[in-house]
Amino acid sequence: MATVAQPRSREPVAPDPARNLALELVRATEAAAINCSRYMGFGDKNQVDGAAVDAMRPVLGSVRMNGIVVIGEGEKDEAPMLFNGERVGDGSGPEWDIAVDPVDGTTLTAKSLPDAVSIIGVSARGTMFSPGPAVYMQKLVVPAEAAAAVDLDAPIADNLAKIAEATDRAVSELTVCVLDRLRHAELVAAIRSAGARIRFLLDGDVAGAIMAASPLTGVDLLVGVGGTPEGVLAACALRCLGGEMFGRLIARNEDERAAILDAGFDLDRILTTTDLVSGDNVFFAATGVTDGALLRGVRFESHRIVTHSLSMRSRSGTIRLIEGHHDPDRSFLVNP
Ligand code: FBP
Repeated sequence: MATVAQPRSREPVAPDPARNLALELVRATEAAAINCSRYMGFGDKNQVDGAAVDAMRPVLGSVRMNGIVVIGEGEKDEAPMLFNGERVGDGSGPEWDIAVDPVDGTTLTAKSLPDAVSIIGVSARGTMFSPGPAVYMQKLVVPAEAAAAVDLDAPIADNLAKIAEATDRAVSELTVCVLDRLRHAELVAAIRSAGARIRFLLDGDVAGAIMAASPLTGVDLLVGVGGTPEGVLAACALRCLGGEMFGRLIARNEDERAAILDAGFDLDRILTTTDLVSGDNVFFAATGVTDGALLRGVRFESHRIVTHSLSMRSRSGTIRLIEGHHDPDRSFLVNP
């Protein structure tokens, strides 16, 4: 008897509550980190980005999920990218928003400088902030115990005093992470005159945000203006780790201001971590590319490649530090 093909059900598929997608995602950041770190010191940041994207895409394609890239890095400098709207995963199961930066720190890798990482964040479909034309945002990231004490609009000296009080230290014992940029000259002067130490980031403020929210990293807060995609990625991490980000979209010129306002965004609004990623089941994975304070970079040993990664899930609060040993001849991640 002939069978009639049934239309595929459009009912939303409930996520498996016990599944930790971050354990599968970490394979994608490992693959990206391994492949792009081969070009460490070669001086070509697009080559680094391309190698990371090429390795990450097939591994992500093998993950059992129905993902759409909401935050794909690349527009800012027209680098190779996993583009916004690209579908990732094998297409099965519930829908997820994906925020991805195959390398946060392409220039760091090209110049063999510290703190480059490969990153991915995942949250239920429709729960990630999509920044549209807003390339940059103002950021303030603090550990959980200082979250209620700070104000994005307060002078940095006031925020430092409040954080010092909340964490039971002197301002001179605080270390502030800031991207080393001309636009931060006044901010840096104000931090110095308040007496706090500065840890400059040459690039890579997602790692800076994670360090600010984590104990024992030697960093107590992150301030300044950085990429909006990186802000959403950092928010994914903070939803898992604890800690808080306060942000505000920034326009670089009048045309960008008009584009941001036309797209319906509010340039006055203070965005919190939950505004940036509102899902209650957020996954985050990162792998070190070059050595950094957060994660060690990729090592090519005799017959093995060693990676260091972070894998986290907001619902369970589990944070894993994973050392991966990869066989260069057998591993799919090394030869995706
Ligand atoms: P890449 O992904 O291009 O390496 O970006 C690195 C980065 O430093 C981010 O971490 C940061 O948010 C942003 O660039 C800052 O932008 P800019 O370099 O234009 O100040």
